[in-house]
Amino acid sequence: MIISSPGDYREAARRKLPPFLFHYIDGGAYAEQTLRRNVEDWQAIALRQRVLQDMTSLSLETRLFDETLRLPIILAPVGLTGMYARRGEVQAAKAAASRGVPFTLSTVSVCPIEEVAPAIDRPMWFQLYVLRDRGFMRNALERAKEAGVKTLVFTVDMPTPGARYRDAHSGMSGPNAEIRRMVQAMTHPAWAWDVGLNGRPHDLGNVSAYLGKPTGLADYIGWLANNFDPSISWKDLQWIRDFWDGPMIIKGILDAQDARDAVSFGADGIVVSNHGGRQLDGVLSSARALPAIAEAVKGDLKILVDSGIRNGLDVVRAIALGADAVMLGRAFVYALAAGGEAGVGNLLDLFEKEMRVAMTLTGAKSVAGITRNMLAL
Ligand code: FNR
Repeated sequence: MIISSPGDYREAARRKLPPFLFHYIDGGAYAEQTLRRNVEDWQAIALRQRVLQDMTSLSLETRLFDETLRLPIILAPVGLTGMYARRGEVQAAKAAASRGVPFTLSTVSVCPIEEVAPAIDRPMWFQLYVLRDRGFMRNALERAKEAGVKTLVFTVDMPTPGARYRDAHSGMSGPNAEIRRMVQAMTHPAWAWDVGLNGRPHDLGNVSAYLGKPTGLADYIGWLANNFDPSISWKDLQWIRDFWDGPMIIKGILDAQDARDAVSFGADGIVVSNHGGRQLDGVLSSARALPAIAEAVKGDLKILVDSGIRNGLDVVRAIALGADAVMLGRAFVYALAAGGEAGVGNLLDLFEKEMRVAMTLTGAKSVAGITRNMLAL
């Protein structure tokens, strides 16, 4: 199919992926209200058009944690990305690096840290979940450090997994059925060939590396399901702060008080996020949560935002509302599933073009020049 806009990749991915896998990516928690509002609330923010501003020179570059980003965009951590395309994490990381932006490897990746980090020529970011198995967390942090990771994204909005009813409709209901369907995906001849896993027991990413043995997908998901830790509080994070010398970003902040607590804790950044509407349905969209958080902590740490960002205009809106940069989740996953590394590269190019048009017609010459003043609120 012809791809002319970032949104086209969703349909292309729908055509290519086994249906339940597409719905696993596309769906959200409960009635999916937050999922829908995430997208709609960005769209509802009106840009203020300005003309005749001499926009010959325009820069999209931004500095974040001692890194230069060619665009104010980071690929978000997405679990099991290697199921959506062959060695998917490596393909996405290469596409991001080729466009001068960071890629974040998920704790629950198919490709391990040691495979992805050396495949690119810029430091990879690494995301860690809070898990009961603190030995795994420590091991993952040590391996990430060893592999040259500087920036750690610590995801805190999954002390317990949210219910995703769409998965029930697509056949993925409850942990056992979920495992069965996932394993089916791996063993479905065409799909398994496509992702290069061929249905054999295989090494699955960071968990296999920790357990020191090949881990089938069933063991892996079972291990994960028993490992979410609802007892977590700020004081449990201190050992990570002490251990990690690089920037530490707390992902999953929706409340201004939590953002202030992140500052007191000593975080270098936060991601304003509702996990793409996949956790607690009914919470605020990121677009609505961001202004109060920016008001509370702007300048004290870096503010990233994700959830519902689908095109370059949304990036401009998010920065105008107070973010320093955005993370893309589903937008890049659809492009990866549909077109691999080239698809993700093209997606980033489309985002860039849209940002350039938006900045030209609002009079913003740089990322720092994208301000609240550009919005007709
Ligand atoms: C995610 N997300 C996520 N976040 C995280 O910290 N670790 C993870 O392993 C995952 N896994 C994951 C899988 C899938 C299929 C999706 C869609 C999302 C959340 C992700 O990082 C990000 O917060 C959201 O995707 C942002 O919302 P959008 O851009 O997808 O609307």
